[in-house]
Amino acid sequence: MTQDELKQAVAKAAADYVAAEVPANSILGVGTGSTANFFIDELAKIKSRIAATVASSEASRKRLLDHGIKVVDLNDVERMPVYVDGADEITPQLAMLKGGGGALTREKIVAAVADTFICVCDQSKLVERMGKFPLPVEVIPMARAQVARELAKLGGQPKLREGFTTDNGNVILDVHGLSIADPAAFETKLNQIVGIVTNGLFACRPADLLLLATPEGVRAMRG
Ligand code: 5RP
Repeated sequence: MTQDELKQAVAKAAADYVAAEVPANSILGVGTGSTANFFIDELAKIKSRIAATVASSEASRKRLLDHGIKVVDLNDVERMPVYVDGADEITPQLAMLKGGGGALTREKIVAAVADTFICVCDQSKLVERMGKFPLPVEVIPMARAQVARELAKLGGQPKLREGFTTDNGNVILDVHGLSIADPAAFETKLNQIVGIVTNGLFACRPADLLLLATPEGVRAMRG
């Protein structure tokens, strides 16, 4: 199976989960990226079952609307049963490294309002230790150089994502060369650096359910 076929299979499994487990007329949180895009395409087939969605990026918002799926503002939503999103890396404890698509801030915000975070990945994303994939960090533009110095002190090699501006008007530093032994502690440490808006570790609030696509089928894992 190709990686896209695996992503498609796990997206369908997530839509099946929504159809079977989520109460009808719920509002769903929807992530960003190629796996999330496959999920949006699957969600379109069961759109009559859901009331609306909250999108974690302008790209996902547009794709949802193109499918005729209603998108509402997060400020009008008190809680959502489920948030579905991909990841760049995920551990067996379901801590994630995210933000390869640059949507980490809105992803973390939307996920915070959801009862259950369902991570949808192909098997290449499951790792024992995160950091091989460069860690995305969203930064206020005027703080870029200062934040880069602080990240270097922590042992990383930050590189500006050239030509990229987030949906929030900020820049991304991709931090190379990390080997993250304690993801929740490192997430908390990065949260203390002034100028960082959001870091791409989702460990303090990990996923609740991982749907992992393998050539043998989709595995469900809980942390
Ligand atoms: C976007 C993300 C994505 O979930 C992550 O990059 C995985 O993307 P893909 O499904 O395309 O592999 O965090 O900001």
